[in-house]
Amino acid sequence: MGSLISDDEGRYIGTEPWWKDALFYQVYPASFKDSNGDGWGDLPGLISKIDYLEELGVDVVWVSPIFESPQKDMGYDVSDYQKIYAPYGTVQDVDALLEECHKRGMKVILDLVVNHTSVEHEWFKESRSSKDNPKRDWYIWRPARYDDNGARHPPTNWRGYFAGPTWTWDEQTQEYYLHLYAPDQPDLNWENAKCREAIYENTMRFWLDRGVDGFRIDTVNKYSKRTDFVDAPVTDPTSPHQPAPEMWCNGPRIHEFIHEMNRKVLAPYNAVSVGELSLTPEPNQVIPYVSAQAQELDMVFEFSVIRLGNGNGFGAKYIYDPFPLSTLKRLTAKWQSFIEGTDAWATAFCENHDNGRAVSRFGDTSTPDLWSRSAKTIALWQATMTGTLFLYQGQEIGMTNMPPSWGMEEYKDIESANFYAEAVESGDGERVRKTMHGLRILARDHARVPFQWSDEPNAGFSDAGATSWMRVHDDYAAINAARQRHDPDSILSFYKRVMKLRKRYKDVFVFGSHKLLDPDDEEVWTYVKEGPGSGGGRDGTPRKALVVMNFSRSERGVGDVATALGCNEGDVRLLVGTNGPAPSQGRTWPALVAWEGRVYTNFDP
Ligand code: GLC
Ligand code: CA
Repeated sequence: MGSLISDDEGRYIGTEPWWKDALFYQVYPASFKDSNGDGWGDLPGLISKIDYLEELGVDVVWVSPIFESPQKDMGYDVSDYQKIYAPYGTVQDVDALLEECHKRGMKVILDLVVNHTSVEHEWFKESRSSKDNPKRDWYIWRPARYDDNGARHPPTNWRGYFAGPTWTWDEQTQEYYLHLYAPDQPDLNWENAKCREAIYENTMRFWLDRGVDGFRIDTVNKYSKRTDFVDAPVTDPTSPHQPAPEMWCNGPRIHEFIHEMNRKVLAPYNAVSVGELSLTPEPNQVIPYVSAQAQELDMVFEFSVIRLGNGNGFGAKYIYDPFPLSTLKRLTAKWQSFIEGTDAWATAFCENHDNGRAVSRFGDTSTPDLWSRSAKTIALWQATMTGTLFLYQGQEIGMTNMPPSWGMEEYKDIESANFYAEAVESGDGERVRKTMHGLRILARDHARVPFQWSDEPNAGFSDAGATSWMRVHDDYAAINAARQRHDPDSILSFYKRVMKLRKRYKDVFVFGSHKLLDPDDEEVWTYVKEGPGSGGGRDGTPRKALVVMNFSRSERGVGDVATALGCNEGDVRLLVGTNGPAPSQGRTWPALVAWEGRVYTNFDP
């Protein structure tokens, strides 16, 4: 099914796959809507909110993992891919979700977590039962190393994502198994063809046969590891465990594996795919995954922008590293334009379940007014990005990070807990202080507090008397969907408005080129989007939009709009602004007040 791309006057530009101009929305199901008062979000709760998503303009709902799991990493540790974790509901509830979405012309993708399983998965239980079990080789087992004193050491010195080593000793069979994440998340061995086939059949076709439309594919570039299992160079002398992404990321057979997954499963079902591609910061590494010709993935998430502020490397992830606006602009421009002249495709997003809230990281939450302005400017930024756009639950109402007054006991994520514990164990008070500071900005927990539906107790997420699994944010009476729904000046109303404009002028916003105009300005951010059509502008030139956003509290002029758009002043139009209508024509354009953003065009809105 293609989506016809034409300009305003109906001139045909091309046919593109439907998912390129679709709006995706990520639901973190534990925190979206609780229907039965147990404090844990669930599928019936999600189903009750589909109308809300439809009203926002969502085309595709991405549901983070809902499968059977001991929940050591919030379901990214699956113990049975064909069962639903009971607090979420049942397989029949998934059927109902599919039906309700499909009825409205919406689609659903599930989170596919197949770099690793839970230790509780039957495959791993078999694999660890004996060295000659047929599934032994479905996971990655290696013998110990011993030093001169006879002390046992893991096969390599690699550091895992959640701090600590990537290997855990198994007493029964006297070998170590590999886990890039928690010890409860053993890595599957993709080198084994039977294991790969079991993944395709058991975790993918099962759900596609039930009508799921595709997958967000977890840690997609970690399936192929280097198989010589050697030590990484020591770059962190304070730790026995060394960062080693070159050993297990984008490994030698990765493109073969992904291509096979596409050929055997994704393509036959016409399933849409978006892979999580961390640690891959160069376009020439990304393009092979998403070039149409390569037939691997439709899209990937590249992490340069969303990781801004994270400390360098692995151990320092939560030592906050401030960045200027110019860095955000340059990285955005890089990941907007990398597809130009190729058959690859981009994604745009500024939030997900693994990062702090965008308005707290890129905006200004110091007063309610600045919060509201900056959240709208972030909306404008996202709405004008080339590529497929992904929103994260709560972004559309400007949900903020957890209050800074909350202590470590409110942080439930395994990664936050482990990094904090590591800092404490180091005995270095300064490191503990810095880690806490970093967690307050960057922790994954911020995105996981319950969705704020209303000013009722528990923010309308759960029943009044319920204890929600994560504490409800203190600010829910001021920041909630019910309050914003009927307020035309709210962040939510602004999101709805710009999402419509993005679709109406998709040639410019979704499919256009991106040119950054002011790389060194640390307050204002200006870029031009140009549609692929040959005309459509008021003067017959290609349709263009100038996006100009004030990412500061200073009042700032907008510069020469007409020259930036390459047209006469009389042909400039204001398409939309975060502060509502501004004069639509004229020689001089009013200055931008704090955190104001506007889009000017060379065509009639
Ligand atoms: C991905 C997920 C993250 C999870 C990890 C391990 O990065 O987004 O939440 O912890 O994979 O599965
Ligand atoms: Ca529930």
